[in-house]
Amino acid sequence: MKTHKIAVIAGDGIGKEVMPEGLRALEATAKRFGIGLEFTNFEWADCDYYLQHGKMMPDDWKEQLSGFEAIYFGAVGWPDKVPDHISLWGSLLKFRREFDQYVNLRPVRLMPGVPCPLANKKPGDIDFYVVRENTEGEYSSVGGRMFEGTERELVLQEAVFTRHGTDRILKYAFDLAQRRPKKHLTAATKSNGIAISMPYWDERVAAMGEQYGDVKWDKYHVDILAARFVLSPERFDVVVASNLFGDILSDLGPACAGTIGIAPSANLNPDRTFPSLFEPVHGSAPDIYGRNIANPIAMIWSGAMMFEFLGQGDANYTAAHDAIVRAMETCLTEGPRTPDMGGTASTTEVGEAIAGYLRTQA
Ligand code: NAD
Ligand code: IPM
Ligand code: MN
Repeated sequence: MKTHKIAVIAGDGIGKEVMPEGLRALEATAKRFGIGLEFTNFEWADCDYYLQHGKMMPDDWKEQLSGFEAIYFGAVGWPDKVPDHISLWGSLLKFRREFDQYVNLRPVRLMPGVPCPLANKKPGDIDFYVVRENTEGEYSSVGGRMFEGTERELVLQEAVFTRHGTDRILKYAFDLAQRRPKKHLTAATKSNGIAISMPYWDERVAAMGEQYGDVKWDKYHVDILAARFVLSPERFDVVVASNLFGDILSDLGPACAGTIGIAPSANLNPDRTFPSLFEPVHGSAPDIYGRNIANPIAMIWSGAMMFEFLGQGDANYTAAHDAIVRAMETCLTEGPRTPDMGGTASTTEVGEAIAGYLRTQA
């Protein structure tokens, strides 16, 4: 039996509360499917480490993590202790960029049992992926400040779009669309207002689209695309977007499908040169931390995505992924619920219920 080496980083806030439930589900699944997982816990990449050491991670973080196949990650950020741009650029954004995790894959699905804020929607009506570019675009450290503190103060922040970076995310998204029954792709743009990078993005989408004759594709400016997520989510299948637009759409999508407390994500280095990273879409939620009421399902679902990645198409790993999704669905329809879904259950109760279904389900 092959053993997969997984680095575990809980991070800040509710990252620390949902991580044990994620691990509980992973362990139950690994046991049932005879898959070897070896976890190594890292007590850095969080704001307490920063307060002690003046940096988010040790200098050799990259060497320490490079030998792992995957990183299972909670959430980072505690803005009252450390400014967000320091904590995030010192940890998560470093992983994404230096481990070249250029795909951020974020499923948006209305699950059975989840109250939907949109009228008359049932499971199946909302079922798409946001494919977010994860290493460049609007997230850049290119720029600067001048004349600070004066009337002439000037701040510049550049966006970076390379052909390599743009084409590889579009190719991933078109490949994904091609494997899905609807074979449909939507590109988010804003070429009316952002007059240099977005027309370029549109050109590359069109060029890539020509290579996928069987995929129907369209594009929308991101403002109306956001409105269409709310008004007609059933029309989406694969939505590809630049880093910032993908970030916004991947909170909006899950909110339309009920709660961001269940939304997972996979930060993929498809070449497998570096570890990939699996984490909830949500953050450290300081407003609810310490009460054991965070929904652990996003963390658990991210673990399911990790099995699929580790298996590289192996049917046993796909079955492990599917078992976790079924256990989540059972919990969402008949099990305990955390307050974000209208329930009164704790994080631990939901995590224990899902691990229980995983042990006993047919
Ligand atoms: P957030 O996602 O942490 O919280 C937004 C709202 O959603 C809060 O009201 C919170 O209580 C609720 N929420 C989030 N996850 C939940 C869950 N599992 N169950 C129930 N409710 C949940 O976003 P924010 O408030 O903008 O950010 C808080 C901190 O987290 C900041 O430091 C931010 O930079 C950071 N952050 C980190 C990540 C990450 O590590 N991937 C992602 C987003 C935000
Ligand atoms: C996410 C988060 C991060 C992002 C933040 C915390 C830097 O919002 O993973 O969606 O913007 O990518
Ligand atoms: Mn986000």
